[in-house]
Amino acid sequence: MEQEPKAPPHVLIFPLPAQGHVNSMLKLAELLALAGLHLTFLNSDYIHDRLVRHTDILARFAGFPGFQFKTISDGLPPDLPRDGEHFMELFSALKSVTKPLFREMLISGQLDSLSTGGSATCMIVDGILSFPIDVGNDLGIPVIHFRTISACSFWAYFSVPDMIEAGELPIRGNEDMDRLISKVPGMENFLRCRDLPSFCRVRNMTDQNLQLVADETRQSPRAHALILNTFEDLEGPVLSHIRTQCPKIYTIGPLHALLKKKLGSRKSPMQSQSSNSLFEVDRSCMEWLDAQPSKSVIYVSFGSITTMTEDEFTELRHGLIASKKRFLWVIRPETVTGEHGGGQIAAELVKLTKGTGYVVGWAPQEEVLAHPAIGGFLTHSGWNSTLESIVAGVPMICWPYFADQQTNSRFVSEVWKLGMDMKDVCDRVTVEKMVNELMMERREEIMKSAVEMARLARKSVNEGGSSYCNFDRLIGDIRLMSK
Ligand code: UDX
Repeated sequence: MEQEPKAPPHVLIFPLPAQGHVNSMLKLAELLALAGLHLTFLNSDYIHDRLVRHTDILARFAGFPGFQFKTISDGLPPDLPRDGEHFMELFSALKSVTKPLFREMLISGQLDSLSTGGSATCMIVDGILSFPIDVGNDLGIPVIHFRTISACSFWAYFSVPDMIEAGELPIRGNEDMDRLISKVPGMENFLRCRDLPSFCRVRNMTDQNLQLVADETRQSPRAHALILNTFEDLEGPVLSHIRTQCPKIYTIGPLHALLKKKLGSRKSPMQSQSSNSLFEVDRSCMEWLDAQPSKSVIYVSFGSITTMTEDEFTELRHGLIASKKRFLWVIRPETVTGEHGGGQIAAELVKLTKGTGYVVGWAPQEEVLAHPAIGGFLTHSGWNSTLESIVAGVPMICWPYFADQQTNSRFVSEVWKLGMDMKDVCDRVTVEKMVNELMMERREEIMKSAVEMARLARKSVNEGGSSYCNFDRLIGDIRLMSK
């Protein structure tokens, strides 16, 4: 008798509910769906309410057989902004409110496969959340961690307990921030106090933020495997250190480039673009860019959750205008804290620049970075932005805001030589100087590394490249789990 064909594996995907994380997890989900897996994508209600306004994203995923979105509470009141200021509140609400709900949903079958009604073959969960490992262990579902940050910052977080034991942490109020850190293996020669993830900047070790992130990071070895959005040619040395703790690692980045590659090899040209932006994209900047000379524009964007004071905004604005370089600046309505809203600030800024500056509330960033008019990127060093800039071969000025960004920016400037680090400084003179160095004086030198790293990034996602092969290996391993 002929056997029934076996249903594809069903993977439950659970990101931390924040734009940067959901963005990468959706990309991973799309890659898995293209490989024929059936998926349940679990969003917080808050994130999903924003996602449903983007019918293009919903339509794209609806086209995949066996794909469904499900939602869960993140435990916070609906009107509380989910920005950097409230990051820790989100974190503790997830543990106290979301964890029991998650277990309940799994047990009651609410997260079962749309196509077969069976439970998940495995879960791929945000590597900053360890509670799904406990739930998965109880219910016999393997959990793969997916950490959306760089390998270098993951390793710095992982080393926090050793730094505490050696007395290198906490960073005290009167600390010499340029002191070298010795307890992050492989980074002894260049990692300074100020380059540690921002959560290390605390007065005492009872600080909840640091403890939380360090504790969660130390849980990753308990997961079945670890997926990282990076590539071997970029972070090989630090990956070899991580492998001593988490032997099963899949480096499959840059994810956006791998996805583009996989979509590009499909028939329909309509499918070669894939954006997961939860903000309203203002495409008018593309037309403005079309009218600018080659490599003349510096793109300024600080991601989805960075906020800044009015003073910081004023210094950036004066510095940019004084540099006399054209710029495209993303100012989200809530970017600048204080009395003035982003809309008013943007309108005033555009008037001031007399056409050499352009402001939008949210840009199609990947397309912007790939535009020939873009010559540099003033960024907060969020990991997605960093990878997008690397792939586009655009050099960076880094002004990190928080978390992993402090470490990313050190690697961009000191290790990869892809730009300059403006961390902990925000004055008009420095901004003007750095913009001019990046766009003119140091351009040739930095572009050499930028062009080479862009080549290596593309190589990693091409057929036979490390990320391309690792992704196939991941799919193979998930298929084996369902046997
Ligand atoms: C957060 C953290 O801040 C970051 O450090 C961590 O690595 C991931 O989660 P976020 O601050 O939003 O993310 O920064 P980033 O990782 O750079 O992600 C921002 C994403 O939004 C990028 O994919 C970028 O292309 C997109 N974006 C940003 C737009 O599409 N348009 C914009 O105008 C700005």
